[in-house]
Amino acid sequence: MKGIILAGGSGTRLYPLTMVTSKQLLPVYDKPMIYYPLSVLMMAGIKDILIISTKDDTPRFKELLGNGDRFGVKLSYKVQPSPDGLAQAFMLGEEFIGDEPCAMILGDNIFYGAGLIKHLRNSVERAENGEATIFCYYVNDPERFGIVDLGPNNEPLSIVEKSPNPPSNYCVTGLYFYPKGVSKLAWKVEKSARGEYEITTLNNMYLKAKKLHATLLGRGYSWLDTGTHESLVDATNYVKILEEHQGIKICCPEEIAYKNGWITREKILEIGESMKKNQYGQHLINVATGKIKY
Ligand code: G1P
Repeated sequence: MKGIILAGGSGTRLYPLTMVTSKQLLPVYDKPMIYYPLSVLMMAGIKDILIISTKDDTPRFKELLGNGDRFGVKLSYKVQPSPDGLAQAFMLGEEFIGDEPCAMILGDNIFYGAGLIKHLRNSVERAENGEATIFCYYVNDPERFGIVDLGPNNEPLSIVEKSPNPPSNYCVTGLYFYPKGVSKLAWKVEKSARGEYEITTLNNMYLKAKKLHATLLGRGYSWLDTGTHESLVDATNYVKILEEHQGIKICCPEEIAYKNGWITREKILEIGESMKKNQYGQHLINVATGKIKY
């Protein structure tokens, strides 16, 4: 199973914050934004990950994350010459994906919830068995998103992209799991009226073939959008409150790597020691020394 983080886009909605840096490198409380989607793929058990970004930003991601050794994963990078839509990731990633199933997560999407790991692992299993998964979340502004109409058993009935008359309030979030062969299908996606290779078109192909599962992220889950100045601050405050109240950290890739058995105790301790003057480093030390129980 492979994974892609799509961290492209011009980020103009966040100007001037993103004039000289990528949106996905901005802080969300105590970590760069991309740590959150990276953590989600790692929680799914995915070790082989491609980061797709712009020509200018790719070197910055490489500088921050390197080859993934620190997190016990294998990271590779690919430039998206122009932001032509989410489905393009599977065209650009064709060689990387090869003949395997592949997940994709958007670099600015934050997911949190106690049962998330189970949902992620189930999605991997479905992808390995030929079925795609989307994750749905109730929103108050459905015109801004891809929206899915769900049937009585939460089965997907239709999906529309940024419709003025959305059929429901259930947003298709930026996390997708596809079976092998996704690139071949992505090449069949035609550009939409707004000039993009829409992920919604790709999802509709799986829906038509009756190969699309919708996982509802209901009560107890948070999906945070970081697309505006306001929502970016909200995300920071949300993570800060969660972490301070529980005395732990969320979406900490070093911790997930350690729990997955991908890095040693010595390694996480060493990383923790290098940042021991702050809460992040202290947390890693607490994980390594067994102070935090699971
Ligand atoms: C994209 C997708 C949309 C999805 C959203 C989630 O929107 O096209 O279907 O609901 O991500 O963040 P965009 O980033 O183009 O606004």
